[in-house]
Amino acid sequence: MEAMSAAEQVTDSLSRIAEMDIDVTQAVYGEYFARCPAAGILMGYSDPHMQGRMLEQTFALIMDPSLQGEDQYFRWEIGNHLMGYGVNKNMYLDYLESIRDCVKIALEEEWEPMHESGWQLRIQSLLDELMLLD
Ligand code: HEM
Repeated sequence: MEAMSAAEQVTDSLSRIAEMDIDVTQAVYGEYFARCPAAGILMGYSDPHMQGRMLEQTFALIMDPSLQGEDQYFRWEIGNHLMGYGVNKNMYLDYLESIRDCVKIALEEEWEPMHESGWQLRIQSLLDELMLLD
C-alpha cells in the first residue's frame, strides 16, 4: 500500500472520531480560549452553531490537499477574518493546535504516530499559506 499523504493522515484521524460519534467542538473552543484569551473575547458573542460551522470549515480545509477549499474559500475567509472580525494572524496557531490536541485526546490509543506527523505538516502548511496572504 502506498504511504498516506499528510492530508490523508489527518482525514483518517477525523473519520475515526466521526465513527466513534465524538463531537470535539466544545472541547476545542474551551481549549482554544484558555490558550488565547484574546480569541475568546473576539468570539464572545458567537453561538455553538457558528462555532460548529467554523470548525467544520477548518476540518474541510485541513483535509483538502490544495488547502484552498471550494472556490478559493481559504483566501476569501481569511481576508474576512482579518478585515472584518479583527482576527490576527498570530491567533491561528493556537486554534489549530487546540484542534489537533482535542482530536488526539478523543482518539486515545487510536492516535498513531502518522496522525501526529500528518497534523504537524498540515498545520505548518496552513500557516505558511496564511503568511502569504495580505
Ligand atoms: C482556518 C481557520 C479558520 C476557518 C476556516 C474559519 C472559518 C469561519 C467561518 C466559516 C465562520 C462563519 C461561521 C458562520 O457564521 O457560519 C467564522 C466566523 C468567525 N471566526 Fe473563524 N475561522 C478560522 C479561524 C479563526 C480564528 C483563528 C479566529 C480567532 C479568533 C476566528 C474568529 C472568528 C470570528 C470572530 C467569527 C465571527 C463570529 C461571530 O459572528 O460571532 N476564526 N470562521
